[in-house]
Amino acid sequence: MALKGPSFGALMNKRRIFVNDVAMRDGLQIESVFVPTEDKIRMVNALSQTGLSKIEVTSFTSPKAIPALRDAEQVMMEIVRVPGVRYVALAPNMRGAERAMECKVDEINLVMSTSETHNLANTRMTLRQSRSVLTDIIREARGTAAVNISLSTAFGCPMEGAVDPQTVIALGDWFVEQGVDGITLCDTTGMANPRQVSDLTEGLDLRWKGVELTLHFHNTRGMGLANVIAGLGVGIQNYDASLAGLGGCPYAPSATGNICTEDLVHMLQEMGMDTGVDLDKLLACAAEMPRMVDHEVPGAILRAGKSDARFPPPDGFEDIRARALARGDL
Ligand code: COA
Ligand code: ZN
Repeated sequence: MALKGPSFGALMNKRRIFVNDVAMRDGLQIESVFVPTEDKIRMVNALSQTGLSKIEVTSFTSPKAIPALRDAEQVMMEIVRVPGVRYVALAPNMRGAERAMECKVDEINLVMSTSETHNLANTRMTLRQSRSVLTDIIREARGTAAVNISLSTAFGCPMEGAVDPQTVIALGDWFVEQGVDGITLCDTTGMANPRQVSDLTEGLDLRWKGVELTLHFHNTRGMGLANVIAGLGVGIQNYDASLAGLGGCPYAPSATGNICTEDLVHMLQEMGMDTGVDLDKLLACAAEMPRMVDHEVPGAILRAGKSDARFPPPDGFEDIRARALARGDL
């Protein structure tokens, strides 16, 4: 059976793709080191110059739960905001949303899971409680900040297994009714495969008309960029990704990094698509990350260079060439 969706030809008509870098939130929340506040601010400021459309700057969570981001206020207040870039922060509850609004974030990223077990582990709330709390936040935030809802484990839960696509769609429908501005479907631990992405998301942009639809993949099982291709195939234009491929939910067993922002931008540019991002500036930011988090990072382009990198032939090549010439084969 062939995969559904339009052909690559249809994708290549230079449609703009929007990239949201989540490294400063999804990336740092799982790190054991505390990145100094001034380094975070410097990195957000550098990312703001790369052409990214959105940056998830931090999260307003309990400092006991996520100590790595306990400086959320200072980071949010001291970054230099560039017009045209949307500055987002995650909030898991009303307290977090109020803190985010005090810092005048452009967008609050709310979070709840599509599976009861992960939602309880991550937010200490049942699905029913989350719905009620998040509805109140959406009402409170109206007129102050845009609200996006990130639906975690939308492609599978590491504890419960498969999540019924109808559960995900019904939850999305419900948030559309509550008046959210955006919905992000998150593959929290890299369980999604391209066919599943295509099957779940086809037609959702029309169903949730007027609501920005974003896909958020982790590359835990190596399917991340393949899943982006599936998303492009059904016409989805917004993708979360993390600089250098950092990332992961501390409350999801087996979580590893997001798809890597510079790898995503490189792939899209090689395919002739427009991200608005200056890849060299982005790579310069990514190159800072191993020092910042004090370990190697998964990003592929950082290691291999862009596809247009050129290398000298291996040792002994001149002999091989000379022999081919002598034989008259060249
Ligand atoms: N900001 C700051 N402090 C907060 C807070 C927030 N948004 N929410 C709760 N707190 C504080 C409370 O004041 C309380 O502090 P105290 O112990 O000094 O009295 C403490 O955290 C516990 O509060 P409670 O309401 O009982 O929360 P909880 O223990 O049930 O934790 C969460 C719930 C969601 C706030 C917490 O687990 C959390 O922040 N989780 C992070 C989720 C996350 O970001 N996951 C990764 C992203 S997907
Ligand atoms: Zn994530």
